[in-house]
Amino acid sequence: MGEVGMVVFHFGAKETFLLFFKFEMEATSSSEKKTKKKLSGKEIRRQRLESLGSEGIPLVLDFSFHHLMADAERRSLKNQVKAVYGANLASRCPLRLSFAGVAGAAAADLDSIGGFQNWLVETSVLHFSAMVPLGEITYLSPDSPNVLQDVRRDRIYVVACLVDLVDCPGTSLKAAQDWGLETARLPLQEYVTVKPSNRLPLNHVCDILRLVGAEGLSWEEAFLRVLPDCKVLPKVI
Ligand SMILES: C[S@@+](CC[C@H](N)C(=O)[O-])C[C@H]1O[C@@H](n2cnc3c(N)ncnc32)[C@H](O)[C@@H]1O
Repeated sequence: MGEVGMVVFHFGAKETFLLFFKFEMEATSSSEKKTKKKLSGKEIRRQRLESLGSEGIPLVLDFSFHHLMADAERRSLKNQVKAVYGANLASRCPLRLSFAGVAGAAAADLDSIGGFQNWLVETSVLHFSAMVPLGEITYLSPDSPNVLQDVRRDRIYVVACLVDLVDCPGTSLKAAQDWGLETARLPLQEYVTVKPSNRLPLNHVCDILRLVGAEGLSWEEAFLRVLPDCKVLPKVI
């Protein structure tokens, strides 16, 4: 509109009207273009997720630990889940994300996230054991005695939606072992020096799985990209 204002001082009424009209049209069509461009970027990302179908490495977020968390831990979890979804949506190679055990407080927390109703995620009240074949699951736990070697398309990865501000070691490992599942920890100490502990927030675990499994980065590249500098250093051999 600033451009239109300048024209007004130099022309008569008719010319002013025509120029005003022309500038208005240009302004409208360029803002329409911007809106279209913005929308199409959003649409492309959503289409990428929609078209995944049975393609894409499956990642299940297990919401069965909600009763163990205090309010502050639940708030932190909510932010981590938002970060997981946002990063996956923005990725050119997203994972096939689903949420299991979304009932009670977990459902209320997710519902309170603005826009959650439009998320492209399979969400179920069912426990993950009723959603996917147990023999195909690798349950991620920092306390597992097994080290995850690679991220495979024929496995289903399950991550615990658990924030314990005072760490309770072995919680996710025990839950997975009770179901007789294969478990694994990320190969952190094999590639980098991590401090102070190898327990990562949910969103970092999911980002690392995606970068290695879907985007083709090495473990070391993924760790150094995702983890903050204060937590990780390249391994000195
Ligand atoms: C903050 S951790 C919770 C730690 C908790 N004490 C436990 O027993 O798992 C949240 C979840 O992210 C995943 N996770 C975190 N760090 C991991 C690691 N180093 N290796 C594998 N999974 C990890 C696990 O699924 C874990 O339960």
